[in-house]
Amino acid sequence: MNAAQRTLSPDGPQLSEIVAGTMTWGEWGADYNTTTIADLIGHCLDVGITSFDHADIYGSYTTEEAFGKALHQHSSSVRDQIQLVTKCGIQLITSHRPNTRVAHYNSSRKHIVASAERSLRNLWTDYLDLLLIHRPDPLMDPAEVAAAFDDLRTSGKVRHFGVSNFTPSQFDLLQGHTELVTNQVECHPLHTDPLFDGTYDQCQRHSLRPMVWSPLGGSEYFKGEGTKVLRLRDKVKEIGKDHGVTEDVVLLAWCRQHPTRPIPVIGTTKKDRITQSLRALDVELGRQEWFEILEAGRGHQVA
Ligand SMILES: NC(=O)c1ccc[n+]([C@@H]2O[C@H](COP(=O)([O-])OP(=O)(O)OC[C@H]3O[C@@H](n4cnc5c(N)ncnc54)[C@H](OP(=O)(O)O)[C@@H]3O)[C@@H](O)[C@H]2O)c1
Repeated sequence: MNAAQRTLSPDGPQLSEIVAGTMTWGEWGADYNTTTIADLIGHCLDVGITSFDHADIYGSYTTEEAFGKALHQHSSSVRDQIQLVTKCGIQLITSHRPNTRVAHYNSSRKHIVASAERSLRNLWTDYLDLLLIHRPDPLMDPAEVAAAFDDLRTSGKVRHFGVSNFTPSQFDLLQGHTELVTNQVECHPLHTDPLFDGTYDQCQRHSLRPMVWSPLGGSEYFKGEGTKVLRLRDKVKEIGKDHGVTEDVVLLAWCRQHPTRPIPVIGTTKKDRITQSLRALDVELGRQEWFEILEAGRGHQVA
């Protein structure tokens, strides 16, 4: 039970098989203080989760900094043992960005470079392992994004680049200008689009591993009340019982079973659930079990 590191793509970074998502560690969720975040980072490292997923916007632009302060409480040698992933490009309306009057995307060269440099300062590091464009920007000029990535790569500030929530054609467009190592997308039994819309096919074609956000369906799986969610929960519980594991472990195993070997970005803020998630590395579902979960989540059988 250890999240050994694996390469994300042939020339990509090594990430742990399960990545810790930090979206709700700060103001957008648990609102942990520096000592608790430092403790949670230490716990992740103890169990072998070495990769952390951020975005500039988390906590309305405050969580990177909270994490950076906590990271600074660890010895400086820790930086070499972890991988920091962050994202840029979303401009939210918040008191922390008084000049933003409409929520928008910004994939300009100037913004990408400035955002990455701010993330470096917030995270108390001099390099990022992976920078993702958070959402496809309808005004994106791929040559300009590639130029920003070149600036950041050449200066040693960012080692690898990717995207998040891109359609296959948006990915292709940017991939034609610069090397992308992943597409971070939402995929779980209640949201199966990447399995069928060409996203995972494209990852397979390029030998890239997708990173998967909300691998447990976020709060919908645990808190939803609709027929579909209830049916899915029953099925996942039943399969979990057969394998002697909890529901979250079944869902993570289901996610990882696709041949692209997706890397789940887990969102829990609890130490015991972080530890438990690693059990998914040892669970292999039967083909029919995998399809039973797919069917329960989609609400219809495959033809
Ligand atoms: N690229 C993007 O556009 C994008 C978008 C959204 C998220 N993300 C990334 O993906 C990460 C994960 O997203 P997510 O938080 O939606 O992931 P998730 O792992 O699907 O859901 C996490 C939620 O489920 C709860 N949970 C986990 N295990 C549970 C259990 N056994 N029983 C009851 N509740 C349980 C957690 O609560 P507790 O904390 O109480 O365990 C938390 O509220 C984020 O942190 C972020 O890094 C990226």
